[in-house]
Amino acid sequence: MLRAELISTGFYVPERVITNQDLTQWMDTSDEWIRQRSGIEERRWVEGAVSASDLAKLAAERALERAGLQAADLDCIVLATLTPDAYFPGAGVFLQRKLGIAGIPCLDVRNQCSGFLYGLSVADAWIKTGAYRRVLLVGTEVHSTGLDVSTAGRDTAVLFGDGAGAVILGRTEDASRGVLSVHLWADGKYAEKLWLEAPGSRFNPWLQASQIEQGLTRPYMEGREVFKHAVVRMPEAVREALRANGLTVDDVALVIPHQANQRITQAVQKALGLPDEKIASNIHRYGNTTAASIPIALHEAVEDGRIKRGDLVCLTAFGSGFTWGSALIRL
Ligand code: ACO
Repeated sequence: MLRAELISTGFYVPERVITNQDLTQWMDTSDEWIRQRSGIEERRWVEGAVSASDLAKLAAERALERAGLQAADLDCIVLATLTPDAYFPGAGVFLQRKLGIAGIPCLDVRNQCSGFLYGLSVADAWIKTGAYRRVLLVGTEVHSTGLDVSTAGRDTAVLFGDGAGAVILGRTEDASRGVLSVHLWADGKYAEKLWLEAPGSRFNPWLQASQIEQGLTRPYMEGREVFKHAVVRMPEAVREALRANGLTVDDVALVIPHQANQRITQAVQKALGLPDEKIASNIHRYGNTTAASIPIALHEAVEDGRIKRGDLVCLTAFGSGFTWGSALIRL
C-alpha cells in the first residue's frame, strides 16, 4: 500500500518586523492589549508589492533545497491561501511559473485557516492512489496589504501576519510512517462570522466603489464566536484522529494547532491535557499567518529537533467557513 511521507519542510517570512508598539502609530491599541488577548508580540509584514506566490516561491525553494531536489522533480503543486495574487487564476500557477516548471498541475485550495489540512488531504489521496509521486504543498499569505490598519480595523489588523510554509510530500511503501489520516469538517452556517464580504459574485457588479466605502473589502470577524467554536472543534478533531487510528494523546510527540491566537492554543492544550512541550506555539513571533501557520510551525519543530523521525505529530486547524480538521503524521 502506498503512503504519503513528509520529505522536507521550508518556510519564509518577510524581513520587516512589525511590533505591537509599531502598530500604535496607525491605530489606537497597545502592546499590553494585544499580548493579553492574543499572545502576539510581533509579526512580519511585506514591504511594497509582494504577492502570496512570491512568498510561496521562497518557502518552496527552501523545502526543495533541504530535500536535495530540483523544482523539476515535483509532480504537482497544491497551494492554500486566502490572499491569492489575483481573483483568478489561482496563485498556484504563478508559483509554478516562478519555479519554472510549466506543465505540472496546480491546485488552489480556498479553505482559509484550514487550507493546509484540506490541501494535505488532497495531496495524501493523490499519492496514495498513485496519481502523483511528489507533491509540493504550500500555505502562503500576504495579509498586511489588505488589512484596515486604522482604529476601525484594530480587532483584526493586530492579529494577522504574512508568511509562507511549504512541505514536500513523497511516496513510501513503508507502512510504519507517513500520513496516517486527515479528517476534515465544515459548517457553512457560520460563513459570515469570519469573512471578506466583497468583492464577490453575489454582487452585481461584483466590484463596487461603495463596498470599499462601507468597509466590506476588509476582513470581518466576530472574535468571540470564532473563539468559542475553535476551542471546542480543534480538541474534538484531534480526538477523532486519535480514535480513528487506535492511538491516544500519550502517543503524540507534538500537537501543532493552527496559530490563531495564544488563548485558543492554551484552551486546546488544556482540553487535551497536554504538557507545554507537546504543543507548538510561535504566534508571539509571526501572528496569525492563516494557511501558512501550520507548515511554518512544523518546519520550526523539525528544525530545532523537537520532532524527529518516528515521532507522531498531530496537526489541527479551525477557521473561516467555519472549516476545521486534523491530521496525524508519523515522521
Ligand atoms: N487594541 C485595543 N483595543 C481593542 C483592539 C485593539 N487591537 N481591538 C478591539 N479593542 C477593543 C474593542 O473595541 C472593545 O472596546 P469596548 O469595550 O470599548 O467596546 C474591547 O477592546 C473589547 O473588545 P472585544 O472584541 O470584546 O475583545 P475580546 O476580549 O473579545 O478580544 C479577540 C478580541 C482577541 C479578537 C477575541 O475575541 C479572540 O481572541 N477571538 C478569537 C478570534 C481569533 O483569534 N481569530 C484569529 C483569526 S481566526 C482564526 O485563525 C481561527
